[in-house]
Amino acid sequence: MNRFSKAMLALAFTGAALVGVAGAENGVTDNSVLLGQSCALNGPAEALGTGMQTGLTVAFGVANANGGVDGRTIELKSMNDSYEPDRCEKAVTALIEKAKVFMMIGGVGTPTAKAAVPVCEANEVPFVAPFTGAEFLRNPFKKYVVNLRASYNQEMEALAAYLVDEQGLKNIACFYQNDGYGQAGLAGITKALESRGMSLAGTGTYERNTVAVGQGLSDVAGTNPDAIIMVGAYKPCAEFIKQAKSNDATKSAVFCNISFVGTKALTSELGSLGEGVIISQVVPFPWDTSIPVVKEFHNEMNKAGKSDQIGFVTLEGYLAGKFFVNALDNVEGTPSREAFLASVQNTGTFDLGGFVLEFGPDDHQGSDNVFLTWVNDGKLAPLGNTSIAGVPIE
Ligand SMILES: *[C@@H]1O[C@H](CO)[C@@H](O)[C@H](O)[C@H]1NC(C)=O
Ligand SMILES: *[C@@H]1O[C@H](CO)[C@@H](O)[C@H](O)[C@H]1NC(C)=O
Ligand SMILES: *[C@@H]1O[C@H](CO)[C@@H](O)[C@H](O)[C@H]1NC(C)=O
Repeated sequence: MNRFSKAMLALAFTGAALVGVAGAENGVTDNSVLLGQSCALNGPAEALGTGMQTGLTVAFGVANANGGVDGRTIELKSMNDSYEPDRCEKAVTALIEKAKVFMMIGGVGTPTAKAAVPVCEANEVPFVAPFTGAEFLRNPFKKYVVNLRASYNQEMEALAAYLVDEQGLKNIACFYQNDGYGQAGLAGITKALESRGMSLAGTGTYERNTVAVGQGLSDVAGTNPDAIIMVGAYKPCAEFIKQAKSNDATKSAVFCNISFVGTKALTSELGSLGEGVIISQVVPFPWDTSIPVVKEFHNEMNKAGKSDQIGFVTLEGYLAGKFFVNALDNVEGTPSREAFLASVQNTGTFDLGGFVLEFGPDDHQGSDNVFLTWVNDGKLAPLGNTSIAGVPIE
């Protein structure tokens, strides 16, 4: 480009900037901020998408009832990607280019995040608080990805510490969804076992958005596992447990899920077959109202007429929404995407009320906390803390 056209281009940009002053960045007006969410609103991962959407909406409702953030109400436009990467890529593109959202928040899933992140990065749009612990969203560091939750590797480490170090179990198998999400979980448990000088006893798989678990079960059963770590969505995991409980080689194994499974959806799918199942979580126990933000969450869910939806996923959505509101509130002047990211890093520590997030220049993962829960006596409860009452599994 020659100097003249560079100058004309600069002039054109200046003109655009002048026109845009009042309207500021995409998605931001004087009285509103529009966020986009692409997630599963149907299919086996539906409970995760709608749960995140509910938690976010309730948290934004709290801010909006108090006049919004600097007079701007927070609005959420959710699109249904059915947990399919190609649909997610289209939805994220439409949200950024057509709906002109300020940023993306509360996406669900690893394969979908793999499709969404390149679109966000190309448009310099933050991708905030996805419901996945996948390593690629954390390492190497990604400027435009801001995580709330601990990683799947950290969940696997917590499970291995319990199963191997505390319970002395030796034969650990893994049943996983045959895609980026399942492989992320597989890599996590493999790493946690390697650090203990162990390897997986065996593996089995199923295909995303199916409940065809028979082959995966027979592959795992052949290894006589003491514990089976499952990395999948709740319907196939529930089906796997049902079948595994009537297979001699697997019926007395300890079954473990990581958080993605959707605890409530899975336990209600399983009923009494869920007894003894361990599920790692990345947010505090949603019925432990001794934690201030959990108490607040209950109050707000009640006010919104959604107390029947209190659970791990809605709590994660609520924490994500509250975090966004706090980070936006710390931006000086008219919000921009870059100023939002700078606010996250410069604020560093966000105490959401007994659940603390810490960010830094090379650290876009707010929480490192993993909480183990289990189904005991028909109730879901924190593992190893009897002072907190469990909640009945419906
Ligand atoms: C999500 O997409 C599927 C497939 O197109 C459709 O059947 C379903 O009705 C959609 N659900 C919602 C809530 O948009
Ligand atoms: C996964 O978690 C559910 C509870 O949400 C439980 O009922 C189920 O048995 C678990 N699966 C395994 C294999 O642990
Ligand atoms: C059990 O949970 C309560 C309530 O959150 C907490 O105060 C206490 O420290 C926990 N105890 C243990 C042993 O983790």
